[in-house]
This record gives sequence, C-alpha cells and structure tokens, in this order.
Amino acid sequence: MKRMVSGIKPTGELTLGNYIGALRNFVKYQDDFDLYVFIANLHCVTVPIEPAELRKNLKDAIALYLACGLDPEKCTIFLQSDVLEHAQLGWLLTCMTYMGELNRMTQFKEKTHNQQDESIGAGLFVYPSLMAADILLYDADYVPVGNDQKQHVELARDLAQRFNNRYSETFVVPEPKIAEVGARIMSLSDPNKKMSKSEESNKGCIYLLDDLNVARKKVMSAVTDNLAQVKYDKENQPGISNLLEIMSSLSSESIESICSRFEGKGYGDFKAAVADVVCEELAKIQSKYHDIINSDMIETVLKDGAEKAHKQAFKKLKKVQKKMGIDIM
Ligand code: AMP
Ligand code: TRP
Repeated sequence: MKRMVSGIKPTGELTLGNYIGALRNFVKYQDDFDLYVFIANLHCVTVPIEPAELRKNLKDAIALYLACGLDPEKCTIFLQSDVLEHAQLGWLLTCMTYMGELNRMTQFKEKTHNQQDESIGAGLFVYPSLMAADILLYDADYVPVGNDQKQHVELARDLAQRFNNRYSETFVVPEPKIAEVGARIMSLSDPNKKMSKSEESNKGCIYLLDDLNVARKKVMSAVTDNLAQVKYDKENQPGISNLLEIMSSLSSESIESICSRFEGKGYGDFKAAVADVVCEELAKIQSKYHDIINSDMIETVLKDGAEKAHKQAFKKLKKVQKKMGIDIM
C-alpha cells in the first residue's frame, strides 16, 4: 500500500464545504492508502491564538474527523506535538532551507503583506520547513492537500532531493495529491463565492456543529433566482445549482434525478428537501460527535496513534542524525 500523510490545521469550526470538499476524501483514502493523519497543533501557534480557543478547536477537529468516518482501525491519527521528532527534524530541515525559498512562499506573503517585519513571527516564516518534516518523517508517497498548500509540498520535495544528494538516499520524494475539481460548495447567501468560515455574515455558511434549526433556516433562506425551475445551470442559476450539488453529494441521488423529481414544483419544496438531507447528515455527525467528545475515545485514539507514528518517526530521525553527523555513536 502506498503511504499518504496529511496534516489538519484546525483554525476554526469545520463547515459543510470542508466536509463535502475535503473530509469525505480522507474517509475514502483510508481504504486505499496507509494513511497518517495528524492534527497540526505546532502549526496553529505560528500566529497568536487564545489557549482555550486552540484547545477547543483541536479537540473538536479530532472528534469531528472521527464522527465523519475516519477510522482509527484503518489509519493512524495523532497529535503532531506528541511525536517529538517533528520538531527535531523540522529544525534540521530549517537549517537546509534557503531564505530565498521561504521568501517566495505565497502563503507567507499573503499572511504578512500588511505587517512590519519587526512584528512577524519567525515561526510563520519557517513553517514550510516544519511541514516538510511532517511529510518526510513518514516516507509519504502522497500528500493530499488543497491547492494553497501545493507550493509547500514542493518545498518538501526539494528538501528531500537536496538531502538525498548531499548525504545519500534517505527520504522518499513525496507528491502532492490535489483533490479533483468538482466539489466546490458555494455560499448560501452569495452563490458566486465559496462557502467559507471567513464570510462576514454567517448566513451563507453551514457549520457541522450548527443547531439543526439554524442550519435549516440557512438553507430555506438561500439566495436563488426568479426563473422558477429546478435546473442545473451554474451560470444562470448558481444558487439552485449549488443546492443541487449539496443535495446530490449528500444523498448520492444524481442531479438529473433530483431535477426531474422537482419539475414543476416551487423553490420552497425543493429547499425543504435539501434542508432535510442536510439536517439528516448533520444529525448523524453530531450524534457521533457528542458520543465521542463525552467519552475517552479521543485520548485512546491519540495515544495509540502517537505510539505507532513515533516508531516510524524515531527510526527516520536516527537515520538522518547519523547521516548528518550530529550523533556521536
Ligand atoms: P480551509 O478550511 O479553507 O483551509 O479548507 C480545508 C479543506 O476544505 C481544503 O482542502 C478545501 O479544499 C476544502 N474546502 C473548504 N471550503 C470548501 C468549499 N466551500 N467547498 C469545497 N471544499 C472546501
Ligand atoms: N499547512 C497545512 C495547512 O495549513 C497543514 C499541514 C501541516 C500539512 N503539516 C502538513 C498538510 C503536512 C499536509 C502535510 O492546511
């Protein structure tokens, strides 16, 4: 089985867009790959964040991933900081990374473009080297990420090659695996924008932990059009098309079948049906989430995961230290 490694950086509450566009892919990957998934808590502190908020985000993210179907029997789930080798290898790779490479990272430029160098955290700058360590420790063949992370995975590839050339073959050179386009869930209040937690108004974004009545209201007040037909036409009916995509991907009923079922019916009926499907899915996830968050499952999963990840990471780090000459024996 090919190995796949990915980190989740829980910067906020997970949305229905995250679920349809990303989370569900992980659940599929665990059947076909030797999947390592970790919560990237060391990456979360590259920008200031309240400890209580961070702790809640981390715990919720793990519980939600488990609730959505990530299965600790099939994949390895752990907390990044539980495997100390991440920070160790991160440092060694930082020493092999050029300032020029880090300066070219578009995410760093975007996140700091209004700030003075004086007050930009150095961790934010060297974050891509730590991310390379996260990947290279496990000999990952593939790294499933969104487009915004592709450049970081390319740095991991460059560092793997640089290390292999300088000290002899050590690291597997990983490949980014960018999810096929298609699932791009749009905002319910502005169907020309992506559904995202960063929206100013909360009306367009459904959170996985939204109260079901709130979620239903958001669907019922989704912006549509006055063409009065349930038809998949992204250009002229972006709102209706988005609702069709949401309904189809959650129910696995084809878009054509949904359209013919609602032929001649009003948008009210259609929206109510979409809301039913959304609420049914959220109810399932939330019920599992509550069971998980109120049990000691997270603790057990993370403990087992860290143990397994550590075995692999320890061996790799030893090898690296030996090759670099920083060990003595
Ligand atoms: P973000 O929370 O924006 O960092 O995204 C995390 C992952 O969720 C990425 O892989 C995105 O591709 C996916 N994602 C986020 N929002 C959406 C959306 N509205 N539709 C589809 N996928 C999304
Ligand atoms: N940087 C990624 C993000 O912001 C999270 C991440 C950290 C990651 N380490 C990783 C992703 C290693 C893939 C592999 O989303």
